[in-house]
Amino acid sequence: MTTYDLIMKKRRGGELSEDEIQWLIMSYVSGDVPDYQMSAFLMAVCFSSMTAKETAALTLAMMNSGDVYDLSEELGTCVDKHSTGGVGDKVTLIAAPICAACGVKVPKMSGKGLGHTGGTIDKLESIPGFRTALSHDEFIDIVNKAGFAVASQTGSLVPADKKIYDLRNATATVDCIPLISSSVMSKKLATGASCIVLDVKSGDGAFMKTDEDAESLSLSMISAARSLGRKCSAIITDMSKPLGRNVGNGLEVIEAAEALKGRCPADLYEICMAISAHMMSLAGAGTVDECRIKAEKAISSGDAFCAFEKMTELQGGNSHALTDYSLLGKAKNILEVRSPKSGYINRISCEKTGLIALSLGAGRKTKESSVDPTAGIIFERTVGDHVNKGAVLGTVMSSSVNDLSGIGEEFTKVFGFSEKAVPCRPSVIKEISG
Ligand code: URA
Repeated sequence: MTTYDLIMKKRRGGELSEDEIQWLIMSYVSGDVPDYQMSAFLMAVCFSSMTAKETAALTLAMMNSGDVYDLSEELGTCVDKHSTGGVGDKVTLIAAPICAACGVKVPKMSGKGLGHTGGTIDKLESIPGFRTALSHDEFIDIVNKAGFAVASQTGSLVPADKKIYDLRNATATVDCIPLISSSVMSKKLATGASCIVLDVKSGDGAFMKTDEDAESLSLSMISAARSLGRKCSAIITDMSKPLGRNVGNGLEVIEAAEALKGRCPADLYEICMAISAHMMSLAGAGTVDECRIKAEKAISSGDAFCAFEKMTELQGGNSHALTDYSLLGKAKNILEVRSPKSGYINRISCEKTGLIALSLGAGRKTKESSVDPTAGIIFERTVGDHVNKGAVLGTVMSSSVNDLSGIGEEFTKVFGFSEKAVPCRPSVIKEISG
């Protein structure tokens, strides 16, 4: 077997065997296959795609390139979730405590976010004292006590993905369904949950710009998970506008805490209910409809909020900050931004919102940079609302940028206006049950 032959076979649209894929990945990780050959192979996959069997083999080979956990051995049935990423996505902070309150364990391992806003780890680390660098035993102990825990990923999880993802970023091969599917699922499967719910975002703020592509990606990931013996469902959700009202690490913790106390914007609520109902149902807690009722009760009884408080304390965080938000710290500089015109809001650009959040300090420009936990945006208006000229559209805040006037001007360009109201896209677009 030579790398040249495998590149040629894929370039001509052939199907690679499990052994061929396994050999290629192991040889790349060990350094025997150089970057230029792997780049050519990845580009061939972009043009010729992969069958479901090849995608599953690639997922398995990548998963086995590093540490593989079997959490179900230690925790029994447990469920994980993964989001393909979007602006204002704080669903994990709401869905995980809901599941925990309903007796379904959620062991969550996350990476640090690189991009417009931080990841789940960055959001939680805005709580004073909160630790995500947990030993394996500590992680398991907290899941057993609080029903869920969130730990930062270790360096030895799926090294093949780290190496291949860097190469994909440099060779315009990120945007390819079998490559995204194997990258996401190898990491999810390596962390060892027996059930996985995927939140696949669709819209101009997501990797998948159309609902059709989001469905293809969902089916590819579900098929890879099932072929490796895991239960998996996918929910396609809207990312044509930022999710909820708050964007930024500490601000998203506040929005999640408020949601768990029963005060949640409608778009965020619908997605959290769908995701948590599917997580519980996959774990055997009932039908999706029955689990949705349980999820609603977990919020109204306060049990889900209590689970969030308990997990926060066990991970060293000050749980009072989930009620007294001043303990999360306040941005030094705050600017209210007013509407330049009257009309109905017909669009809020995710991409522009993300870039503004990044320039305020809420995200990470490089892996080494740190995030400002107080930075971010609060939207006062959303798509479908009517505004008069001069009404407040939102607030931008930062502790690292002193003069916010330029960013405030940019923020007005995030919004599109029309004379007539436009219908809102549903927040839950499709549920693909496992
Ligand atoms: N997220 C991942 O982890 N991998 C991809 O390929 C795309 C998004």
